[in-house]
Amino acid sequence: MGVLPLVLLLGSLFLCGRVAALSSAIDVLKQDAHGFKVSFKATMTPNMVIEIPGTTERCFGPFNTNVPIPFPNVTLNSGNGYNPSMGVFTALCPGVYMFSFTTYSSVGEGGRLYHKVQLMKNGRMGVSVWENNREDAEDSATQVVVMEMQRGDQVYLELLSGRKLCTNMEYNIFTGHIVYPYTV
Ligand SMILES: *[C@@H]1O[C@H](CO)[C@@H](O)[C@H](O)[C@H]1NC(C)=O
Repeated sequence: MGVLPLVLLLGSLFLCGRVAALSSAIDVLKQDAHGFKVSFKATMTPNMVIEIPGTTERCFGPFNTNVPIPFPNVTLNSGNGYNPSMGVFTALCPGVYMFSFTTYSSVGEGGRLYHKVQLMKNGRMGVSVWENNREDAEDSATQVVVMEMQRGDQVYLELLSGRKLCTNMEYNIFTGHIVYPYTV
């Protein structure tokens, strides 16, 4: 193992509250408590919309490919696992985690709600919420999921190709926290 990977490994062991040479049970407990402090909350921001030509709709999307959703407004990021520019959470500590996301979209009368947002883990689809409706013009939905994360696993939200989230971007929320870390 090279020096850099070793440093990174030791760094992540420390972040997980696991240090090899702990001298007392109290120290172990303190380090364990440190491992529990992983949580984040982030929202989309109003400036993420663009006006769709020929309409009055102001939306994030549609794009011609699936797009990771950035949630730039971070109000909590204990443990620094959440990267706001990418909207990606990386588990530095293996364990069981809970994630939630809320999607919101509102279009004018006669407009079409058309979104699908899915939670991705390491590039694979986890859970999703969606709407394709011509009868109402506003909707929100929330998903909560508990999942096992190994060190380095990544979770983010993706807006599906062709879909859009309109109006009040700040109602779109992404949160997560550790439920308990695995011990090594
Ligand atoms: C970020 O979120 C906070 C808390 O909800 C809010 O008060 C603030 O206005 C938001 N900032 C932006 C730029 O959206």
